[in-house]
Amino acid sequence: HFEGQSKVWLFGYGSLIWKADFAWHQRRPAVIHDLSRRFWQGSHDHRGTLEAPGRVATLVDEPGAECLGMAYLIDREILAPLDLREKNGYLRRVTTMHFVDKAAKADNATDRAEGLVYIATQENTAWLGEAPLTGMVEQISQAHGPSGANAEYLHNLADALRELGGHDEHVFTLADTLRERMPGSNPQR
Ligand code: BEZ
Repeated sequence: HFEGQSKVWLFGYGSLIWKADFAWHQRRPAVIHDLSRRFWQGSHDHRGTLEAPGRVATLVDEPGAECLGMAYLIDREILAPLDLREKNGYLRRVTTMHFVDKAAKADNATDRAEGLVYIATQENTAWLGEAPLTGMVEQISQAHGPSGANAEYLHNLADALRELGGHDEHVFTLADTLRERMPGSNPQR
């Protein structure tokens, strides 16, 4: 896909919403359809360890769902280092991003682009899947990895989605439950 194009849109729904450590041409809030964000992917290399893996976001198929995130227009060659992520079980998928910023509204919301998104599926070895809310929050509260505390990742994501004016029941419920369990885990709020 996208051969012959020098630039490609990449949709971020996790840490990419608040932190992109690569060069981009455009950065625009967008939604993608029929996918839901879930903290069902294990992280033993970023937000946890092999002994105590964290939980990070992936997307699961859900017809009719909408997922809010951040779309980046990047040079194609930026994808090569990003593809290292495939090692951690994330695979690329083609998706349509519907921009939701002011510019898109001015255009009658027909503003969209085809692009790529990285999704971890249950095929990968780090997959954790669904668990009871309290179990997921307990795990997140205890996990730390080279990229920092798993709790910080969850709060950053919830805060970034709120800033975008979005609502994500799954993420907000996890973050609220985590705050009750660890009141100091999100001092900004
Ligand atoms: C994201 O933020 O969308 C993301 C980050 C790392 C791997 C896959 C997705």
